[in-house]
Amino acid sequence: MRSLMDPLDLSVEEIDELISTSNDIIENSAKYSEMCRGKKLATLFFEPSTRTRLSFEAAMYELGGNVLGFSAANSSSAAKGESVADTAKTVSCYADIIAMRHPLEGAPYVASLNSDVPIINAGDGGHNHPTQTLADLLTISREKGRLNNLTVGFCGDLKYGRTVHSLIIALARYAGIKIVLISPDELKLPNYVKIGVLDRQNIPYSECDDLEKAIPELDILYMTRIQGERFADKDEYERLKDFYILTPDKLTYAKDNLSIMHPLPRVNEISVAIDNDKRACYFKQVKNGKYIRMALILKLLGMCKSDAPKPQKSEEILIKDKLVCKNPRCITSCEQELEQVFKVTDLDAGICRCIYCEKKSEKLYSEINL
Ligand code: CP
Repeated sequence: MRSLMDPLDLSVEEIDELISTSNDIIENSAKYSEMCRGKKLATLFFEPSTRTRLSFEAAMYELGGNVLGFSAANSSSAAKGESVADTAKTVSCYADIIAMRHPLEGAPYVASLNSDVPIINAGDGGHNHPTQTLADLLTISREKGRLNNLTVGFCGDLKYGRTVHSLIIALARYAGIKIVLISPDELKLPNYVKIGVLDRQNIPYSECDDLEKAIPELDILYMTRIQGERFADKDEYERLKDFYILTPDKLTYAKDNLSIMHPLPRVNEISVAIDNDKRACYFKQVKNGKYIRMALILKLLGMCKSDAPKPQKSEEILIKDKLVCKNPRCITSCEQELEQVFKVTDLDAGICRCIYCEKKSEKLYSEINL
């Protein structure tokens, strides 16, 4: 049984297969309409969503299956203090597969450790959003005909934007990718992606705060919303929320075949005047999200023949009860009965990372008294 927590849980070959299945679903939808007859998807959304939840539900219905779940924490027994682990154990008695969104980083991972059925991370705090990444990759593949040799600009809230983190991690595995990071100083990409992914894999990247200067070289412009709900300081949010607004005049020097993407929801950062520009792809992303989630459900339920190899994960050493995660947005900060576990991989230069939220500890492996 496999779950999906982050994009690296799938090999490049498996992502190619999912894209290929999605394209087949788009061409031959009738072929898939009964494939999940008798199967149930549970959508457990502890945080608001329009696209992710409804596209998962539409995906399961279009595969002939059924759907159950909740769309807010306060309509579940989480409001009475039930843990994520107990929720997952319970729902896995009713459903064949579970999609979970949670504001705390690592919550879907905790669910996956306690569930008898596959868990799909549908967004955990500012950490990861792998199915949005799959929708983005399908969109890029359909728009550009390739996933390599692209200059991709990410603009806006690169600090809290989990879709940005997941897509950069996924794109870093393709050849010829160049990343342009466009953000105010306060919202720069976290080091676990910048150093841990871009530097480590020698992916060329640059950082700036000027969208108009950066735009001419881009093949893809990935706009993001400033994530007000993740700011501790609301005045800072007010100061930064309209830092970038993409308007038609800013596209004057952009390539003719630029693809403008956005995971949505949008607030102000893309003017509606751009919606009819042939370069706007964000509502195509929405549609592609349903098709790739159909393909993913089929894969995790073992209903698609697959020849693709699974990803090769690096060796991990687990460290139990020696370190405490200091990330206030980690699931361990709220569910204190969870065991504190950190991991060290052979790729990570002795850095210990929380297994739930992946934030690094202050101590290196060599500094722990084992
Ligand atoms: N892109 C995305 O995750 O949208 P929702 O928050 O509406 O699910």
